[in-house]
Amino acid sequence: MPQTQEASLIESKPVESVMFEHMHGDVLGAGQREPRISWTYSPGQDWDGITGAQIRIRRNMPGEGAREETVVVDYRQNHLHAWPVAPLQPRERTTVAVRLVDEKGSFSQWSDEVNLETGILAAGDRLGAMVGPGWYESTTDWRHAPLMRKEFELKGKPVSARLYLTAYGLVEAELNGRKVGGDILTPGWTSYDDRLLYWTFDVTDLLQGRANALGLWLGDGWYRGRLGFRGGKVNIYGDRLGAYAQLNVTYADGSEEVVVTNAYDRTWKAHKGPIVSSGLCEGEEYDARLEEEGWSEPGFDDSDWEPVTELPLDVDKMAEPISPAVREIGRRRPVSIQQHGSHAYLIDMGVNCTQRLRFNIHGFESGQSFQVQHAEVLEDGELATAPLRRGSQIDRYTSDGKDAVWEPRFTIHGFRYALVEGWPGDLGPDDVTAIAYGSAVERTGWFETSDDRVNQLHDNIVRSMNSNFVSIPTDCPQRDERLGWTGDIALFAPTAAMLFDVEGFLSSWLHDLKVETEKFGSVPYYVPYVPLGEWQTPKVQALAIWGDSAVLVPWAIYMDSGDKVLLGEQFKLVVKWIEEVSGYLSPDGVWDRRPGIVYGQLGDWLDPTAPPDDMAKALTAKELVATAYFARSAGLASRMASELGMEQYRDDYARLADHVKTGFVSRFVGEDGLMTSDTQCAYTLAIHFGLLDGHPDLKEFAGRRLAQLVRDRDYTVGTGFAGTPYVLPALTETGHLEEAYRLFLSEKCPSWLYQVSMGATTTWERWDSMLPDGKVNSGVGMTSFNHYALGSVAEWMYSTLGGLVMTTPGWERFKVAPKPWGPIRNAHVTHKTALGIIDLAWKYEADDGQLIIDVSVPEGSSALVEVGEQSELIHAGSHRLVYAYTV
Ligand code: BGC
Repeated sequence: MPQTQEASLIESKPVESVMFEHMHGDVLGAGQREPRISWTYSPGQDWDGITGAQIRIRRNMPGEGAREETVVVDYRQNHLHAWPVAPLQPRERTTVAVRLVDEKGSFSQWSDEVNLETGILAAGDRLGAMVGPGWYESTTDWRHAPLMRKEFELKGKPVSARLYLTAYGLVEAELNGRKVGGDILTPGWTSYDDRLLYWTFDVTDLLQGRANALGLWLGDGWYRGRLGFRGGKVNIYGDRLGAYAQLNVTYADGSEEVVVTNAYDRTWKAHKGPIVSSGLCEGEEYDARLEEEGWSEPGFDDSDWEPVTELPLDVDKMAEPISPAVREIGRRRPVSIQQHGSHAYLIDMGVNCTQRLRFNIHGFESGQSFQVQHAEVLEDGELATAPLRRGSQIDRYTSDGKDAVWEPRFTIHGFRYALVEGWPGDLGPDDVTAIAYGSAVERTGWFETSDDRVNQLHDNIVRSMNSNFVSIPTDCPQRDERLGWTGDIALFAPTAAMLFDVEGFLSSWLHDLKVETEKFGSVPYYVPYVPLGEWQTPKVQALAIWGDSAVLVPWAIYMDSGDKVLLGEQFKLVVKWIEEVSGYLSPDGVWDRRPGIVYGQLGDWLDPTAPPDDMAKALTAKELVATAYFARSAGLASRMASELGMEQYRDDYARLADHVKTGFVSRFVGEDGLMTSDTQCAYTLAIHFGLLDGHPDLKEFAGRRLAQLVRDRDYTVGTGFAGTPYVLPALTETGHLEEAYRLFLSEKCPSWLYQVSMGATTTWERWDSMLPDGKVNSGVGMTSFNHYALGSVAEWMYSTLGGLVMTTPGWERFKVAPKPWGPIRNAHVTHKTALGIIDLAWKYEADDGQLIIDVSVPEGSSALVEVGEQSELIHAGSHRLVYAYTV
């Protein structure tokens, strides 16, 4: 018997992936009292007769019973739906589910429930103090890391318990001898003077009936450890370590108890622990002989531990994270371990990434030590450590004679190879595991094609991103730098947003960008900003691209998420940047004023001609690059204003963009179309930023000239950071698909696949970080093997090779426009959008002259399929489309 519409609705479960704000899954310690709710629909939903979506909100306030509220809303408003009931209170728990309702009042099944619990939101809920050891310490490196502990009695086993935790430095907690949660590097790096994140852990299962103990490990981290290049600096934010812990316990009868860090009752004690020293870049030294068994369990004799002292803390600066924590994101066993000389082992983990080694320690005598040094590549069979500069990445372990499992705690390394010295006996594959760490952003982009080299490149791009999304978006994870360089993420943000849900992660970082910009007068070179080396000018200098991050990063987030609220918050920063740079333009609209730092503008940073010892030297004039980017930013600022309904800004910035474009063309483009810098980068920017759109002849010429330059270089890349994301798009949009593909698929140095052909497992900082003869580029001061910037090519891989092109913010409309060429016979791309999953696979059947496209369009979205001259509009659902086609 055919099912009725009503019966099929009742049995169906059409609502999927309910989430709060940009946070996936259950959320603990949220900062939003009115979190927006999003959900998606399973593909193929029948909308006939559906009248709304019902949201069920179960609320549970501490000390009060549960209550339930339901509201029916427009089912099409399923993306970032405003919180529909009264705001949440601090530490309130809420469970949300959604279902559909039809005109007859029938309902579908409920979606899976998703939980959110708010944090200690108000200053009055933050009952603890920041405490740390009181002993005398030197004011520089190699300071002994402390432990802190407290014992406490509970009146029974609680039904629920939360630990709120933050630190000056880094902290890890143990309750009754067991580690709390799986996060590392808590509380992460923010502009600490403005904001200190506290993290919430569910510790219900770690507590016991009566006697309990809470133990805290502390490390220097970003707060007071040595940061940055040219020797770096210590004590940037303070010279005293401290931790804030607050344990809120709830019993079955609803009563509550709170245990907090404090100095006044002298129950919190500190002692020097087994971590003898620890630096994020230098590595960690651990002496197991200093372990004290049972220190984080009740009944431990801490009579020789010292009472802690209180440190000043402004509890208003404690803030809830909006980005996922740094956690394990993968693990692997060595692919080889080889004896190296008489007393050492060389471990190859198979891939380069941000990771740490965990050792099974056995067969050691007390006092016996081993050390392990980490590096990204080998040179002549030895670890290449010169590119690490000060960041030596050496861990040392001294045994107490007992078997143990050990992994360093407050350091993090970027490496593929490790040299172990001093290990007694054989080091076997079961003795070592590598744990990869990164901010646990949700994967949203997948790519596969018929060419394995291209797939490897995609893997490398993902790995470099994961390696550098560690609390903040960094340039590299290995040398003594690891800073949130604004230019790198400005260029990579659209790719990042394709590969992972980075809205929360990047918005968190943009918050600090705003704070630092206000504090230092312009968008800093890196954020959080710390004056270092040649980058400490009396006032931060406005630099093109790096400063354009204030526009390009919010735009990338907005395009992927369609989140206007976030865009509105970030728009103030956009205005600040646009207004500031407007003041530096010459009357003709060109940005040729030299910023007062040694390099001036950074221009097309690290183009392939940049000599090893002069990275700032580039083929393309710096003022050309700066002006092009500013025209782009002004144009995007106008579009943002238009999205936000701010007409004045929309018009003003559109005029400004036109003015800058006009200046650009008259200053840098000759009447014959040749540009003053006759380079790949110059034509690329002029084309892709629409700077020649008013001059079709010039644009056409620019496309031809760019294609010629690419041929002249025998299909090798001629761009640096500035031109690379757009060189393939510029060739493609001017009809030079063949040159685009030949360049993309080239294995000659410099090119993307050259790196792959050299065995790269990440994307490199320089095109030739490793030279064809296997030597490391002699510019070791600037030769990382794990920078994501040049991986920005993934944008083109998804849009042109894969054929998936976003056309409106939040993927409400997109294009399916694969452009097969040459040896590439198929591709499969997937992107999890806010509306649901887009899955697009095409294959080219040369024998039949057919292009076969399988695409699924999520509910709430539609797509224009464009193949050659043909186009058609398709709506939600799964489609197979077959076109006559010849490559
Ligand atoms: C970083 C780059 C950064 C650049 C700017 C380098 O040290 O690694 O990625 O953008 O400096 O000068």
